[in-house]
Amino acid sequence: MADEKKPAGPDLTKGVPLSSITDGGFLLGHVGDEAVLLVRQGAEVFAIGPECTHYHGPLAEGVVAGGTVRCPWHHACFDLRTGEALHAPALSPVACWKVERQDDTVTVREKAQPKPRPRGKTSGSPNRIVIVGGGAAGFAAAEMLRRHGYQNAITMLSSDDASPVDRPNLSKDYLSGNAPEDWVPLRPDDFYKENNIDLRLNTDVGKIDVKGSAVTLKDASSVPYDRLLLATGAEPVRLPIPGADLPHVHTLRSLADCRAIIKAADGAKRAVVIGASFIGLEVAASLRARKLEVHVIAPEKRPLERVFGPQMGDFIRKLHEEHGVAFHLEDISEGITAKQVKLKSGGLLDADVVVVGVGVRPRIVLAEQAGLAIDRGVTVDAQLQTSAPNIFAAGDIARWPDPHTGENIRVEHWVVAERQGQAAALNMLGIGQRYTAVPFFWSQHYDIPINYVGHAEKWDDIAIEGDIANKDCVLRYRRNGKVLAVASIFRDRQSLEAEIAMERAA
Ligand SMILES: Cc1cc2nc3c(=O)[nH]c(=O)nc-3n(C[C@H](O)[C@H](O)[C@H](O)COP(=O)(O)OP(=O)(O)OC[C@H]3O[C@@H](n4cnc5c(N)ncnc54)[C@H](O)[C@@H]3O)c2cc1C
Ligand code: FES
Repeated sequence: MADEKKPAGPDLTKGVPLSSITDGGFLLGHVGDEAVLLVRQGAEVFAIGPECTHYHGPLAEGVVAGGTVRCPWHHACFDLRTGEALHAPALSPVACWKVERQDDTVTVREKAQPKPRPRGKTSGSPNRIVIVGGGAAGFAAAEMLRRHGYQNAITMLSSDDASPVDRPNLSKDYLSGNAPEDWVPLRPDDFYKENNIDLRLNTDVGKIDVKGSAVTLKDASSVPYDRLLLATGAEPVRLPIPGADLPHVHTLRSLADCRAIIKAADGAKRAVVIGASFIGLEVAASLRARKLEVHVIAPEKRPLERVFGPQMGDFIRKLHEEHGVAFHLEDISEGITAKQVKLKSGGLLDADVVVVGVGVRPRIVLAEQAGLAIDRGVTVDAQLQTSAPNIFAAGDIARWPDPHTGENIRVEHWVVAERQGQAAALNMLGIGQRYTAVPFFWSQHYDIPINYVGHAEKWDDIAIEGDIANKDCVLRYRRNGKVLAVASIFRDRQSLEAEIAMERAA
């Protein structure tokens, strides 16, 4: 009888033939009770934990490139030698084991201690780094500073009432009731104390004193800095219509917003979602999971057509309709009352709860008032530095010179914000690293994930491979013969390969 405790595959301490792993391929085995993945690149073989430390994506379905393995689900990237999570969204390393090779036999030995690889020399260590924002970019920056061995003061000022959370979860599993509370924080509360990060919640920064190198809080106290990272994110656009401020009308950005929607949904029968944006549609799906009747109102002809094009837009509409969502497209809401939403076309929709997801606006007031260069966001250079000395910006507010499109772009996505936070952290230490990551995002609709790499605001055509309706496709958005972006459903390897090809082309 098989030993049920042992993970699948061979016992790797007993040795396996090198020829059983193809170049760029994987072999899943075990060491004692732990599953271990052998990864081959050329003549080298590495042994690592088989699951991504973000959401447990199966690394054996990923891609090996340049001494790294990329996760198939949301493109985290791990160093095969050290296990370090080099690119977000994973922030924790995978375990590593020592590997011995004799002739054609590969044997796994003891576990190695993961340690980050040095990323270049710092040019001095600032005494005080202040981060404004406790979101994706702010958290990733603080984590990277400590990971890199920075030992001086880090102060993180956040107007949120919760420590940094996994924001994408707030419209998906957590909102639909499928995620436990402990999935939500990016790190447990004691992480900040243990890492000597002075995280101050419910703390609004009111002003930056560029000459005096200090930020002023709303209570008039000031916090001096040697380097400052602005990572203030974005805020939901409010609708300028009567009734938009009624208590049953919600927007979704913070954990507090999410909890308010969950409370409102409890016992409610009908929800109206205004806006067929990513947030609007993900909220619609989550409220359907909570068995509410859901209506979505939006001015466009097809949901998300501006991002994905008409074919994917039609698919997304159908997918939501199959799950019971009713669309009111090419229409807008003109007013909200305690029980109804009025459509411009004349109809009235009953609503116990209303969620408005009509886009976000970058929170750039601080930067504007400080006189930093602004261009529909905070202008930063290739190292994410703003126009003011010692002030950096990252995440939803930053407009940066993207080497892939050759344009200055600003995007509002999780992985971009985290990777920018990480790059800004290193640059605040004087490493001088250009931010060249290819933009990536994912969106989840019921059990269908859509992955997107690159950035295409306009395109000449979309080359479709596979079958969108069959949920097995790759869409390439091309301009002047160049592929600017690739969207995919259940073609994870192709999505990763597209990302790697874009990285190499830049
Ligand atoms: C519900 C939801 C679901 C999402 N899902 C996805 C997804 O599936 N995939 C994806 O790619 N992206 C997703 N996004 C977008 C993604 O979360 C954002 O792009 C990302 O959070 C941006 O990171 P950021 O650090 O720039 O801003 P944020 O994460 O918004 O953090 C900004 C921080 O700054 C603080 N702040 C602002 N002003 C001040 C001030 N004056 N003083 C002090 N603190 C201040 C805020 O309180 C907050 O802590 C989602 C967003 C939401 C809201
Ligand atoms: S599960 Fe690996 S990046 Fe999300």
